Amino acid sequence: MSATYRQQAPAKVNLFLHVTGKRDDGYHLLESLVCFTASGDVLSGEMRNDDKITLSITGPMASDLSSEKIDDNLVMRAARLLQGTCAPDRGADLILDKRLPIASGIGGGSADAAAALRLLIDMWQIDIDPKSLSDLALSLGADVPVCLHGRTCLMTGIGENITELPDLPDVPVVLINPGKAVSTPEIFKARADEGFSPAGAWETERTFTSAASLADALSECGNDLTLPASGILPEICDVLNALAREEGCLMARMSGSGATCFGIYDTSEQADRAAHAIAIRNPEWWISPTYILNQTIRQHADMGAKFPD
Ligand code: C5P
Repeated sequence: MSATYRQQAPAKVNLFLHVTGKRDDGYHLLESLVCFTASGDVLSGEMRNDDKITLSITGPMASDLSSEKIDDNLVMRAARLLQGTCAPDRGADLILDKRLPIASGIGGGSADAAAALRLLIDMWQIDIDPKSLSDLALSLGADVPVCLHGRTCLMTGIGENITELPDLPDVPVVLINPGKAVSTPEIFKARADEGFSPAGAWETERTFTSAASLADALSECGNDLTLPASGILPEICDVLNALAREEGCLMARMSGSGATCFGIYDTSEQADRAAHAIAIRNPEWWISPTYILNQTIRQHADMGAKFPD
């Protein structure tokens, strides 16, 4: 009897993102408060009797990946890399339910790659030490280690240094993408001469009792990629304005290199109402009312499980 393995690939949100420097190889040093939402892609898979790896992509955003070669998908690349490093005789049939917009600053591809690593480590019963796994993840992309971690944290370096943070309270958010992909390298290139933010903006022991107190602390930080990104894609400003105008919005900000933005709302009712109202006015936008994942929500959610057929 074969078993189906499943892993959620939650959207990553950069609650703030400061560019603090640049390495000689061109990668930027970042400081970012990263969290994950209940909204995301879902990866499932079954073990094969041979060493083949297959991937099929379903879901509302699958068509946006139809021009990409399946071998270039980050799930495939992650699977092949793990297989080559740790399990040359293992194979898998994988299905990616693609719900998040692609190239959108919420880590879709990186979250999928991290989900693939988690799922295959579980399914192939791989014993890999944390440092080797983190290096392997980083070689797939700067955001893959943080997505593999999957919990609220402070991310520094180019993405490889992760500091665990206290759990966040219940924070209702609305994610909005204006339906246009932006290129991360292009955004970093566009900020060329803007200088750097000082490191050390976030007090890692800080705890919050409400969405409002979190939003208040976040107001002292920002996303250093917003200006270059909105210069390339002005719709980002329309999204930020739409989020901020709705009742209960405590703050609106872009995530990652965009174009997805998030609004933090005081209550989930206000978040739902905002999402509904904005969707009526902007039917072409991708809009997801959701929550920041914390331990309480995780305990009630199926974040990764094995279901025997
Ligand atoms: O690592 P990843 O493939 O996600 O990065 C895509 C591009 O974004 C890099 O080639 C680089 O141009 C830029 N980048 C950067 N600094 C980072 C992350 C990404 O300059 N910390």
